[in-house]
Amino acid sequence: MLESEKFKSRQNRKCFAYIIAGVVFQTIIILVFALTVMRIKTPSVRLGSVTVDNLNYSASGSPFFSMTLNAEIAVKNKNFGHFKFDHSTANVSYNGNAVVGYGDIIKGRAKARKTKKMRVTIDVTSINTGASDTAKLSNELNSGNVTLTSLARLRGKVTLMKVMKKKKTAEMNCTMTVDLKGRAVHILDCE
Ligand SMILES: *[C@@H]1O[C@H](CO)[C@@H](O)[C@H](O)[C@H]1NC(C)=O
Ligand SMILES: *[C@@H]1O[C@H](CO)[C@@H](O)[C@H](O)[C@H]1NC(C)=O
Ligand SMILES: *[C@@H]1O[C@H](CO)[C@@H](O)[C@H](O)[C@H]1NC(C)=O
Ligand SMILES: *[C@@H]1O[C@H](CO)[C@@H](O)[C@H](O)[C@H]1NC(C)=O
Repeated sequence: MLESEKFKSRQNRKCFAYIIAGVVFQTIIILVFALTVMRIKTPSVRLGSVTVDNLNYSASGSPFFSMTLNAEIAVKNKNFGHFKFDHSTANVSYNGNAVVGYGDIIKGRAKARKTKKMRVTIDVTSINTGASDTAKLSNELNSGNVTLTSLARLRGKVTLMKVMKKKKTAEMNCTMTVDLKGRAVHILDCE
């Protein structure tokens, strides 16, 4: 074999190696992209701060409580595209099953990698709601703290790069205690 031919074949092998390396590199880039930017995650929704107005309650006689909760609801969207959600309702329940109030969550949009905060007003009353375990309610009111749960389900769509759309539902499940004397709400836990 001539020296020049040997040189040529060595060059060819080198060239081939570059192509392989290029393909591997591109594949890695695409994989990383698919696993981060293109992966659509379910947005989360939780209660931020909650304040209480018009608090009224009685632990004796027929025990009851009523109040207006002013809640800040935060929709956290970790996606690289916006999450647009429909109008929905947040409900507040006492003792697991008695729904004591509803609040409107107006439709909106959480921008890419942003948290959208909204104010929701929830009128709460235990009267005529099935919060009928009067002994338990009376005890709880006497203890100074009432535990409430708030649930919401935000149905919507995440849009990536203006064309890829995927339905996602963000769910809220938060437990809070209302400190009756202090007229303050402490968020205990948001799933
Ligand atoms: C609290 O509730 C009682 C009993 O329903 C009522 O008589 C009273 O007017 C209420 N007070 C306020 C400030 O709403
Ligand atoms: C009510 O709950 C809060 C938060 O869990 C707690 O700090 C406070 O001591 C409780 N108050 C009473 C009277 O139990
Ligand atoms: C309370 O809200 C949750 C979540 O949206 C829902 O699943 C549940 O049915 C609601 N309960 C009532 C009684 O509306
Ligand atoms: C809300 O979370 C509690 C635990 O913190 C769980 O026991 C309950 O089943 C959840 N409710 C819903 C409707 O997901």
